[in-house]
Amino acid sequence: MKFYYGAVVFAHVVSAVISVGPLFLLLPLIRRLRTATAEAEDIYLAFIRVIIRLVMHAGHVLVVSGILLLLSGPWPWYTSWVILTLAVMLVSGFFLATGFSVVLKKFHESGHEKEVIITKLHKTAWIYISLMLVMLWLMVQKPVVW
Ligand code: HEM
Repeated sequence: MKFYYGAVVFAHVVSAVISVGPLFLLLPLIRRLRTATAEAEDIYLAFIRVIIRLVMHAGHVLVVSGILLLLSGPWPWYTSWVILTLAVMLVSGFFLATGFSVVLKKFHESGHEKEVIITKLHKTAWIYISLMLVMLWLMVQKPVVW
């Protein structure tokens, strides 16, 4: 049981690294989109899509391993830092699902201002990074709020 729990914590932390780390690559890529030529634009967009997909898959492993930790570990689901993480998680799921994909879909539609979309993409990336860092803090510090 001890080995199992340790292995799940390890998988949980590795998926946390893969859910947060690649997000920092998004920022320079989004910045480069502003001045990119049409061909370079497609390459940057392809990279951005791969990063978002990677973060999304790792996020699923993060949630599943987190739930396994709750089921087999010492922390009940109603622990304050767990509930706060779950609440932030719902908000970030919303951002990843709507913010990124809608914006990326709009990119090649005519009638949409490229600058406006890139600014929105940049803002969404920062909000998502901030939410992930808040969850990372809650998980590592485990603050007892109530
Ligand atoms: C469904 C959401 C989540 C649940 C139910 C959950 C559950 C847990 C639990 C119960 C632990 C304690 C393991 C232990 O120390 O015995 C833990 C640790 C950890 N979680 Fe999560 N987690 C979730 C989401 C996240 C997210 C979104 C991140 C990062 C952004 C994250 C990062 C971590 C890290 C780094 C640890 C190790 C902290 C430490 O032990 O010092 N978790 N998680």
